Amino acid sequence: LPDAQVIVVSNREPYIHNLVDGKVKLLVPASGLVSALEPVTRTCSGTWIAYGGGSADRLTVDDNDRVQVPPDRPSYMLRRVWLSDEELQGYYCGFANDGLWPLCHIAFTRPIFRASDFEMYQAVNQKFADVVVEEARNERPIVLVQDYHFALLPRMIRQRLPDATIITFWHIPWPNSEVFSICPWREKILDGLLGSSIIGFHIQFHCNNFTESVDRFLESRIEREDPSITYRGSTTLVHPYPISIEWPPVGFQNQPKASECRRQIFEKYGLAEDMWLCAGVERLDYTKGILDRFMALDQFFQKNPDWVGRLVFLQIAAPSRGTLAAYQQLHRQCLDYVDEFNRRYGNDRYKPIILLDEYHNQEDICRVYRAADICVVSSLHDGMNLVAKEFVATRDDEQGVLILSTFAGASRELLDALIVNPYDPSAVGEALLRGLNMPAEEQRDRMRRMREVVRSNNVYRWAGSMLLDAARLRKRNEAYE
Ligand code: G6P
Repeated sequence: LPDAQVIVVSNREPYIHNLVDGKVKLLVPASGLVSALEPVTRTCSGTWIAYGGGSADRLTVDDNDRVQVPPDRPSYMLRRVWLSDEELQGYYCGFANDGLWPLCHIAFTRPIFRASDFEMYQAVNQKFADVVVEEARNERPIVLVQDYHFALLPRMIRQRLPDATIITFWHIPWPNSEVFSICPWREKILDGLLGSSIIGFHIQFHCNNFTESVDRFLESRIEREDPSITYRGSTTLVHPYPISIEWPPVGFQNQPKASECRRQIFEKYGLAEDMWLCAGVERLDYTKGILDRFMALDQFFQKNPDWVGRLVFLQIAAPSRGTLAAYQQLHRQCLDYVDEFNRRYGNDRYKPIILLDEYHNQEDICRVYRAADICVVSSLHDGMNLVAKEFVATRDDEQGVLILSTFAGASRELLDALIVNPYDPSAVGEALLRGLNMPAEEQRDRMRRMREVVRSNNVYRWAGSMLLDAARLRKRNEAYE
């Protein structure tokens, strides 16, 4: 695909400019999607179209709403799309995050579907379709549509650019067809997505769920051998592409050695040298199982009281989607739980849970990963989960234990993690005990194997295999022309 133009479309932009104390500050958002797509877009000098949400975003674009990024070594163009409060409310908070997000994740949070939200979702998808057409330099760009914010966009692009190669990647799980059928606009969602040339999920299981949903609700032909769906005269390939991170992990390079990170973090949080550190790193989201993890720690302390006073759990919980009621409620619950927990098990000098409910940049996060004895990724449900892969990537000292939820896509690849059911506090507690007692040689062997998996299945392979499939499709279509 040497001369094809690559256009990425996502809701979240890779670089946010904010006005802080009268100065423009750059922020890289906490988003697995962004950390994966950014290196890929850099490499292919693409165009990235996204919602401009920063308070200084308008100050940093040219007359065409474009800005070259990354700011320190510009290599691709970011085109910002402006959304009104009303649009954001209906499209982002409403249909995407009150509706599709809980629909697709098994976290037992009831999805809320409002007709007015869906109308706005349609309108915003249309707005992005217009911008894609504006940015396309010819009739046949490769458009990489990202995530559940844009289920209708592939069809809208297809109507305007019939020869475009549209690859849609769904970064979150796809539910079974019975659950999916709750959505009042299920046919429209499926019809929209089937405007794509390729639809990718992280794992085969989600591809199967998607295909079943189509089979149940649309008149289509399904090819199960080379999995594809033919609908309204065109064929969409449905394929698993497990997402990953950059290797070598550039953002994590030039960081102090693990022992130095440990010294810094222990000093920063006033931990005695002989203490043990568990870490959790995520957005404050109800799918991440943060509260369940704390409850598991509670049971662990009850069963293993000798660990009280020797173990600290450092939880980074980046604020997320704070205008939504479910997220506000979770935030409050976490603060209250930790308060009570620390009163019960801690004292003036010892706080067993340190909850950092603020944004941390990549360097800070890297230091925490490298300082930790155990990283706990016990999400209730997750498409892939890149924190698990980042933790492994930062551990060039080949030490540290990963506890990983069986309901995260990453558990299909990182088989040397201690895999747990996050709903079972005693299983999480047992994994903690096992991790704390794991000999250095076993940690090294497991970590080596996991690092090898992330090294070879890196994000370039993820993007590469999608683009290879796209090239194959383009060739086939050319042959028919
Ligand atoms: C998940 C979604 C991404 C999203 C990220 C952060 O990883 O799959 O699309 O960007 O969460 O959420 P936010 O709503 O802040 O973009």
